[in-house]
Amino acid sequence: MPSCVDPPDYSGAMTVRIAPSFLTADFGHLATELARIDQADWVHFDIMDGHFVPSMTIGLPVFEQLCRYAPAPKDAHLMIENPDHWAPRYAEAGADSVTFHIEASKAPIRLARELRAMGVRAGVALRPATPVEPVLDLLEEFDMILIMTVEPGFGGQSFIEAMLPKIARTRAAIKAAGLDVWVQADGGISRETIGRAAEAGVNMFVAGSAVYNADDANEEIEILRQLAMKHAH
Ligand code: DX5
Ligand code: ZN
Repeated sequence: MPSCVDPPDYSGAMTVRIAPSFLTADFGHLATELARIDQADWVHFDIMDGHFVPSMTIGLPVFEQLCRYAPAPKDAHLMIENPDHWAPRYAEAGADSVTFHIEASKAPIRLARELRAMGVRAGVALRPATPVEPVLDLLEEFDMILIMTVEPGFGGQSFIEAMLPKIARTRAAIKAAGLDVWVQADGGISRETIGRAAEAGVNMFVAGSAVYNADDANEEIEILRQLAMKHAH
C-alpha cells in the first residue's frame, strides 16, 4: 500500500513528451530563450514561410544555427509550401524529427520515406479542418501524426476542443495496428487543456505561450508533464 508521501506510480502509462515552441519567446535572445527550457524533452521549431501560413518566422540558415543551442532533440514543424523540396534540407540542417503538412505535400509517402532514409523521424501534420481518415490507412509510413489544435500561424490561440475526437480516432487506429506512432497536439496546450489531450491519446505536447509566459519555464514544463502523465493511458 503506497504511503501518502510516495510519488504516484505512472509506470504503466504511455511515455509523454513536452516540446516547447519558442514562437512566443524573445526573438532578440533566442539562444538564451532556448537555455530557459533545458528540461524539455524536445524543442519544437515553428518554421513559417508567409505563404502556407500568413506569418514568417525563421528559415533554414537560422534554424541550422539555432540547432547548436537546442538543449534537447529538435522537432521541426514546417508550415511551408513545397515541403517535398525543403523538408530533407531541414533534416540535413540538424532536425531529429521533421513534420510537414499533408495539405502542402505533393507526395507525402515519398517524402516520409526520404526523411526516414536520412535517419530522422517523419511526421505528418493536419490543419484542424483536414480529415485524419486518409492518413489512418498510411500509419506505418509515419513516426508521428500532428493534429493541429489551432489554425497554424500564431501562438497564443485557444485550443479547439473539437479536435479531441479526431485525436482519439487516431490513437485508436494506431493501437489497432499495433504501431508505435506518436500523436502530437500543437496549439493551445496549457494546464487547462493538457489532461484532456492526454486522455484522448496525445503523447507529445507542443506548448508555446504556456511555457514561455511562465516565470520559470522549466517548472511549467514539469507541471505540464505531470498533468499529462496523470491522464495518459
Ligand atoms: C502554431 C504553432 C504552434 C504554436 C503553439 O502555428 O505551430 O507551435 O506556436 O503556441 P501556443 O502553445 O501558444 O498555442
Ligand atoms: Zn508548431
